[in-house]
Amino acid sequence: SITACLFDLDGVLVDTAKYHYIAWKRLANELGFDFTEQDNERLKGVSRMASLNILLEIGGVTLDEITKMALAEKKNAWYVEYISNMDKSEILPGALEFIQALKERGIKVALGSASKNAMLILNNTGLTPYFDAIIDGTKTSQAKPDPEVFTLGARELGTEPEACVVFEDAEAGIEAATRAGMRSVGIGSSETLGQANLVLPSLEGFTVDRLLEL
Ligand code: G6P
Ligand code: MG
Repeated sequence: SITACLFDLDGVLVDTAKYHYIAWKRLANELGFDFTEQDNERLKGVSRMASLNILLEIGGVTLDEITKMALAEKKNAWYVEYISNMDKSEILPGALEFIQALKERGIKVALGSASKNAMLILNNTGLTPYFDAIIDGTKTSQAKPDPEVFTLGARELGTEPEACVVFEDAEAGIEAATRAGMRSVGIGSSETLGQANLVLPSLEGFTVDRLLEL
């Protein structure tokens, strides 16, 4: 049986990819090269420093670690400025309704995100009170596809991995769920998320009864 759901944040509950994109693009332009929306696809689910490394590779730029740390800080300051204006209208379709339905059925809800800005986003969108456990980038040391973020979530909930279902929009996140011994639902296209137990275009219209059939 399923007693807990663990949610990725960016791309599953909120659309923050666009804010990451404009902040990374601003940095790339400052460094003298362009960064497209297609390039941005490569950064989904990827940690901040790993994202910067991919961006620099695209621009053909090599920099020392200290400069890279400063650039990651700069990008993050812009990103924080953009997400500071977020509100509940930016919750993705169906996400809040599904989480509310889970709570009504007594199913526990946890966050499993790589972002160090997760609390700001959850607070601005009013989602914080729905979570029984919150694991974000400030609490983890290993990035997805390492299962750490979800393993910690299940532990904090006091739930066995076999009773957990992970919701993810990134391939690395689906792999992390599998490695944690959990079932998964991919949010996006089955081309990239084919390893998930179920793939949905979004959470819109998804029900607890369908979840329990997994
Ligand atoms: C999520 C997003 C990534 C982002 C990462 C770190 O996984 O999908 O695009 O790079 O979080 O986010 P942060 O807010 O800590 O820079
Ligand atoms: Mg994501």
